[in-house]
Amino acid sequence: MPHRYDGRVALVTGAASGIGRATAIRLRDEGARVVGLDLAPVHVDGVQGIECDLRDEEQVAAAVADALVRGGRLDLLANVAGVAASAHTTDVTLAEWDRILAVNLTGTFLACRAALPHLVATRGAVVNVASLAGVRGWRYSAAYSAAKAGVVGLTRALAVEYAPDGVRVACVCPGSVDTPLKRDLVPAADQDPRLAGHARALLDPPVADPAEVAAAIAYLGSAEARFATGAVLRLDGGAGV
Ligand SMILES: NC(=O)c1ccc[n+]([C@@H]2O[C@H](COP(=O)([O-])OP(=O)(O)OC[C@H]3O[C@@H](n4cnc5c(N)ncnc54)[C@H](O)[C@@H]3O)[C@@H](O)[C@H]2O)c1
Repeated sequence: MPHRYDGRVALVTGAASGIGRATAIRLRDEGARVVGLDLAPVHVDGVQGIECDLRDEEQVAAAVADALVRGGRLDLLANVAGVAASAHTTDVTLAEWDRILAVNLTGTFLACRAALPHLVATRGAVVNVASLAGVRGWRYSAAYSAAKAGVVGLTRALAVEYAPDGVRVACVCPGSVDTPLKRDLVPAADQDPRLAGHARALLDPPVADPAEVAAAIAYLGSAEARFATGAVLRLDGGAGV
């Protein structure tokens, strides 16, 4: 295990579960002081948890300020929290559309906005978790795909804007990852069988472990990735090739 984060402080959203939890563990094991931010309690040894709803502007600002007090500095913001849903587009209510956009896209923006001044101070980095669904079409996932494409666009915009300050911004685009989000997803009813094989991974097994995504996040957030800003890294077993 490399030790690229000795003396550094990382804030990880979605740290209670899945990829966020794996990222908190990975960064901790690489020497970071990690603060995890989630709606749910964060139970990871050595990681301080802050309960926060990313959809709430004031809660996010307060949580980032709290993380700064706990850590004393901020070197990495990993925006991992997210929600997904599968439905025919004509069945998607405005409330459901708003929910998916609010967590995945607006929550990422709010965390970035609150953290960026502190990342400028340390010439730190942001790593966002988008999705393969953000860079190619995804069946029955209009809101999720739109939100994740937004995360890719946000990543690129911030990468340009903050390059002069030495802050790098990148994102990963996972395909299928074995997490509660994936396992609990209820597929849209009456799916068209002609779309069944769409965007299937080429590698076997066709599903990633959360730790594999965490390893990519840890790389992109580290000094080893000094020349990687605006990077959009697919981790999809070839599904998006
Ligand atoms: N699992 C996959 O196949 C897959 C594929 C591509 C992208 N992703 C993305 O990876 C990220 C992590 O997903 P996961 O699979 O680990 O899911 P997960 O459900 O295991 O974890 C998501 C975490 O986000 C938290 N969260 C949800 N809404 C929140 C809110 N409003 N405020 C604060 N925290 C909130 C949840 O409490 C949970 O701990 C998400 O952005 C997801 O879209 C997952």
